[in-house]
Amino acid sequence: MEIGVLGATGPAGGALAARLASLGHDVVTGSRDPARAAAAVTALRERWGDRVRSLQPGSNADAADADLVAVGVQWEGAVATVAQHAPALAGKVVVSMANGLTKVGREFHPRFPDEGSLALAMQKAAPEAQIATAFQHVPAAALGDLDRDLDGDVVVCADDDTARARVIDLVSAIPNLRGFDAGSLANAIGVESFTATLLSINLRHRGSASLRLIGVEPRSVET
Ligand SMILES: NC(=O)c1ccc[n+]([C@@H]2O[C@H](COP(=O)([O-])OP(=O)(O)OC[C@H]3O[C@@H](n4cnc5c(N)ncnc54)[C@H](OP(=O)(O)O)[C@@H]3O)[C@@H](O)[C@H]2O)c1
Repeated sequence: MEIGVLGATGPAGGALAARLASLGHDVVTGSRDPARAAAAVTALRERWGDRVRSLQPGSNADAADADLVAVGVQWEGAVATVAQHAPALAGKVVVSMANGLTKVGREFHPRFPDEGSLALAMQKAAPEAQIATAFQHVPAAALGDLDRDLDGDVVVCADDDTARARVIDLVSAIPNLRGFDAGSLANAIGVESFTATLLSINLRHRGSASLRLIGVEPRSVET
């Protein structure tokens, strides 16, 4: 599958791009500045060699042309970036990993747009795209360390059943990550806000916890 990552020059987008490339996907690493995308791909190739040979640098517009698109943009710019590329994103599955966060002293607080969650704001900004959420609770350092098996669960929300199923499949193809069906985008607010809680725990416990669900096993999406 060809996957585009908007804002792939940051830790999260770059990590996702490298991980997906290592699984054999063709990945376009997007940036507002293609020169920054080229530098990011060079750095990833220096680190991971042939394992990320399918990475291709490009503009965010190039990334938005891919079959499936992930949004790795800094959260403050994520909704505007989706709005800017809305025509190219129409009819496609678009994966938001964005969390609105502010650090206040020794904790993080969630930040939300008027729509309730960043994912719902993206859906409003690109009404013909199929917005889904995933990877909010996966630390970029772990996601981007291809020598390390990830350990965690990924909560996937989307209004469209097929979009949700495709993203769960994408997540579950990453060794040791399990994708779970959390229903529609109305539930993205809980996913995004829990990140502030998780990061506050990590700060106070000096850890790097992610999410693991107990008492439930992955299963196919009910359509
Ligand atoms: N860091 C993590 O561990 C982690 C984990 C899970 C989810 N996330 C989420 O993943 C997203 C990216 O996180 P990050 O830490 O990688 O972010 P980041 O480094 O702050 O930003 C990522 C990229 O976004 C682009 N960007 C910055 N400001 C922008 C703006 N105003 N408009 C458009 N593009 C802009 C930049 O790329 P160019 O300048 O090259 O365009 C930048 O390299 C966030 O939404 C975050 O909540 C992060």
